[in-house]
Amino acid sequence: MSKSVKNNPLALSKKEMQAVGYQVIDTLIEHLEGMENLKIHAQKSPAELNKLLGGPIPEKGQDPLALVEQAKKDVFGNVLHVDHPRFYAFIPSPGNFMGVMADTLAKGFNVFNGHWLAGSGSAAIERITIDWLKDICKFPEKGGGLFLSGGSMANLSAIATARKIKLKDEGKRGVVYYSNQTHSSLAKGLKVLGIGEKYRRPLPTDKHLKIDIKALEKAIKRDLKKGLTPFCIVGNAGTTNAGVVDPLKKMSAIAKKYNCWFHIDGAYGAAAMLTKTGKKALRGIETADSLTLDPHKWWFQPMEMGCLLVKDSQHLKTTFQVSAEYLEDTKAKGLEEINYYDHGIQLTRSFRALKLYFSLKTFGLKAYKKAIQKGMDMADYTEKLLRQQKDWQIITPSQLGILNFVYAPKGATLAQIDTGSQAIAKKVMHDGYAMMTTTKIDGLTVLRMCPIHPGLTKKDIRKTMDKLVQFAGEVSL
Ligand SMILES: Cc1ncc(COP(=O)(O)O)c(C=O)c1O
Repeated sequence: MSKSVKNNPLALSKKEMQAVGYQVIDTLIEHLEGMENLKIHAQKSPAELNKLLGGPIPEKGQDPLALVEQAKKDVFGNVLHVDHPRFYAFIPSPGNFMGVMADTLAKGFNVFNGHWLAGSGSAAIERITIDWLKDICKFPEKGGGLFLSGGSMANLSAIATARKIKLKDEGKRGVVYYSNQTHSSLAKGLKVLGIGEKYRRPLPTDKHLKIDIKALEKAIKRDLKKGLTPFCIVGNAGTTNAGVVDPLKKMSAIAKKYNCWFHIDGAYGAAAMLTKTGKKALRGIETADSLTLDPHKWWFQPMEMGCLLVKDSQHLKTTFQVSAEYLEDTKAKGLEEINYYDHGIQLTRSFRALKLYFSLKTFGLKAYKKAIQKGMDMADYTEKLLRQQKDWQIITPSQLGILNFVYAPKGATLAQIDTGSQAIAKKVMHDGYAMMTTTKIDGLTVLRMCPIHPGLTKKDIRKTMDKLVQFAGEVSL
């Protein structure tokens, strides 16, 4: 036993660490290898879980191996498997093993990735990885960005930056514009930043669920007349509801005309820049002043990993940099030595970049392109199968890997279709073979699928369809 272990009440011996470590890895591999036969949805009541996991803090410690074993059964046995190939709900999080191992290493070394003094190696990896993403999204050399916990933090940080750059600190009454299909994290960010509903303009969309561009300009003109200051327009590069891309180039032109910041939320959809079809759909993404992009979504990373890219990295510093006497020694020398605490809210921040770096290095861009294209192809395939069924109707076609549909047998009313969607989604969840949820499109409850797991097969989709047909038959409309 080493001296440090002997003197440390919170240390395990080498042998114990190895035993726990191997058990953890074995558990993970067992989970990944056994995925096919897992019931996707598992849940217990709060009372049941409290009984299994609660109780007072033990005065004396217990065997860590037994603890891992219990977590395997009672904790991980009661979570929704968002990494399952047939998890089609929300935005799936497929993850990948190299990302998990990178996270494990980063945590094991407990890297402080806030400034260059503490983590030059980690900051270098973050800068290199951010540069790769900038290249993919056609952002300029002087652009920058950083990794954050997720899309919500990226959207919030973008609006904070927009406000700082466009409104300075002049206390102007600034207004933000976006379509009513924009993810709720934007409204949450605005709320946190103190931008009240009076200064938010969720705008109508056209029949394709893209922002109504005329309504956007009209709203800006109306606000200018009222003495307000339009300062930020937010576009969608893949809405959560339907994978819709707003007319980004037109929005960017309006942003320029009215001196507004143009932010794009590509938390989910920006990954499609790696494919030919995606690039076409996302035309104009490069016109953004800032872009949200989440590696823990369609870049197959374990949570938590979001990213904010900006056209000019100085804008982040202008927004977030403050000084403190106890941080004087950490001041960076030259532009190359990045202190990421100057680029965002967090001072103490983890080393998120390693997981994306390891994943891209291990599998290569070619495999990534294939994996993302496959997601879009699977959504196309699902749409094709649904169109062949006589009682099903496509509500929004396959776009960036998302589609919406309903069970609509002849003579069914809208109210019946609505409750039918809810009932079918519940049956899918309880059955456990697959998982999908509902959303509302133009007020109608629809079934929504996002089949983007790279391990998904056409056979999986066909069997999911068989289940849908079976459950629809059991629902009396
Ligand atoms: C388009 C979009 N933006 C933002 C978010 C919020 O991201 P997060 O959940 O990582 O905070 C989501 C989440 O699904 C999203 O789909």
